[in-house]
Amino acid sequence: MVYQHSQTNKFPKTLPAICGKYFVSLAAAFLISGSAVAAEAKPDPQKMQELQKIMQHQMMLMKPELQAKVKVLSPKTKQSLMKILAQHSRYSDTATLRQVMTEVLADYQSMVSGIMTENKEQVADSARRLANHRIPVGGLLPYLGLENVNDDRLAILEGFNDSVEGNAKKLASAADAGDMAQAASFVGPITSGCVSCHATFRSQPGLSNLLR
Ligand code: HEC
Repeated sequence: MVYQHSQTNKFPKTLPAICGKYFVSLAAAFLISGSAVAAEAKPDPQKMQELQKIMQHQMMLMKPELQAKVKVLSPKTKQSLMKILAQHSRYSDTATLRQVMTEVLADYQSMVSGIMTENKEQVADSARRLANHRIPVGGLLPYLGLENVNDDRLAILEGFNDSVEGNAKKLASAADAGDMAQAASFVGPITSGCVSCHATFRSQPGLSNLLR
């Protein structure tokens, strides 16, 4: 199995002992039926279990005000969050979303650089790395702002994810086949995904509170 989230392995032994009943209720808040996820992504039962553990662990890291928002998300929203996670096998215990994004940008640039120089291995590797970017500590939600953690706002997240990561995987396949023109055609849709998600969930980076 591919998970590299070191805490995930320790977690079943340690956290319940620490948190007792509180843990159980939190865990229940994110236990959702696997069937809807399974229908599309078809993860095996072991993978479903691991995903649920990861989501429970993310819940444990959240402050109560965020936990409260997550608990009342609809099953549909929770399933779509889980589908996003199902496409990733790399987790960080320390990196923030901003750090992960900086890494994503480096992969994106390497991908484009490979297209320009017709280096199909560079293109395919960079695109797959981008598609399987690390999940930041605590998951995505802690970085989106409390005002965005509701069913309405999160409904759009999966679409952004698919347009970036779905097209990055297609781009990788085109690169495998040595078809740079085809690979290049996916750069626009990927870029639109980055830009649309930023327009929705990100404020202007690096604003100073020392300006009037
Ligand atoms: C799911 C939504 C989403 C997608 C898709 C997304 N980003 Fe981001 N990105 C964010 C958010 C939210 C932040 C702000 C994070 C913070 O400040 O905590 C961010 C921040 C960044 C930053 C850090 C500098 C800054 O503006 O804060 C870079 C660089 C970046 N993104 C690049 C990319 C690239 C390149 C892609 C596409 C390949 C991409 N992002 C796709 C949500 C997204």
